[in-house]
Amino acid sequence: MISRREFVMTGAAYAGAQTLSPALAQTSPLIRKAIPSSGEMIPVIGLGTARRYEDVKGEADMPPLRETLKAFKASGLTVIDSSPSYGTAEAVVGEILEEQKSRPGLFLATKVSIMGREAGINQIEQSFKKLRTDKIDLLAVHNLRDIDVHLKTLRDMKQQGRIRYIGATTSFDNQYADFEAMMRRETLDFIQVDYALDNRNAGERILPLAKDRGMAVMVNLPFGRGRLFSAVQGKPLPAWAAEFDCKSWAQFFLKFIVSHPAITCTMPGMARPDYVTDNAGAAQGRLPDAAARLKMEQFIDTL
Ligand SMILES: NC(=O)c1ccc[n+]([C@@H]2O[C@H](COP(=O)([O-])OP(=O)(O)OC[C@H]3O[C@@H](n4cnc5c(N)ncnc54)[C@H](OP(=O)(O)O)[C@@H]3O)[C@@H](O)[C@H]2O)c1
Repeated sequence: MISRREFVMTGAAYAGAQTLSPALAQTSPLIRKAIPSSGEMIPVIGLGTARRYEDVKGEADMPPLRETLKAFKASGLTVIDSSPSYGTAEAVVGEILEEQKSRPGLFLATKVSIMGREAGINQIEQSFKKLRTDKIDLLAVHNLRDIDVHLKTLRDMKQQGRIRYIGATTSFDNQYADFEAMMRRETLDFIQVDYALDNRNAGERILPLAKDRGMAVMVNLPFGRGRLFSAVQGKPLPAWAAEFDCKSWAQFFLKFIVSHPAITCTMPGMARPDYVTDNAGAAQGRLPDAAARLKMEQFIDTL
């Protein structure tokens, strides 16, 4: 969680950052991948709403978020990930999308994250209200919480046409064994798991299993909450990053993720429009091939 003071400082940083974007912008069409259960194509980069959208106290905090979501829609990106566990995030996203009339064409993903059938249903109904929508694109069980109970609810809601896809999430290595067992047992449209250039454990079993089971994969924590930026601070981007059209470290980290054959998309946390321009660049141009991905791993492992 960030403090209000840090958030206000981010607003100030955002105001000064508007001139950063053009150099990072890419100009080619967006790369999309198919959701295996339907064939629907979605852009490989989305937006995560943990942290920066969680603790919005009032109007003073809204301008950078409005500008970010406006830039997001204008860039053609569509997937927005939220959760009832992220404080004000769902309500803030719902309010801004309504204001900007930008709900059509976006892909809204949220979660159920509470124990108990009735409590889960109530929480999901609240998500519809907060997001100001009558259809949620993806509803996932957050961190396996009461999953057997909630999957029944989600399947009913999918049947009724209120939810388009169902899934489950984790971001903890110590849940991987249970997560894998659940993936073998259940039929899901999506899983969501943590994976990053310096955090590749999900690549051992979970990602190949998702491919085998025909599940789309959304990757959370693509920058390890900013950890990767700290690791390369002060270091120039290697010249060979240009071979797969990377103009920034963010594009380098994100292209590593979305070039994995089992991964459908990732949604970096972003609350600044210049981050949208930068990160959208990871959904454009060439992606690293298997040899280049190995080189990227070796690069980060030796830092
Ligand atoms: N179990 C789960 O279901 C689960 C768990 C964790 C996360 N998630 C989802 O995954 C999303 C992503 O995770 P996250 O937001 O915690 O972490 P993250 O995406 O790994 O890192 C986000 C941070 O990276 C920085 N950043 C973003 N774009 C940048 C750019 N172009 N250049 C420089 N810095 C940039 C921003 O830092 P500053 O804002 O400080 O500048 C941002 O807050 C979440 O928002 C959430 O939707 C789901």
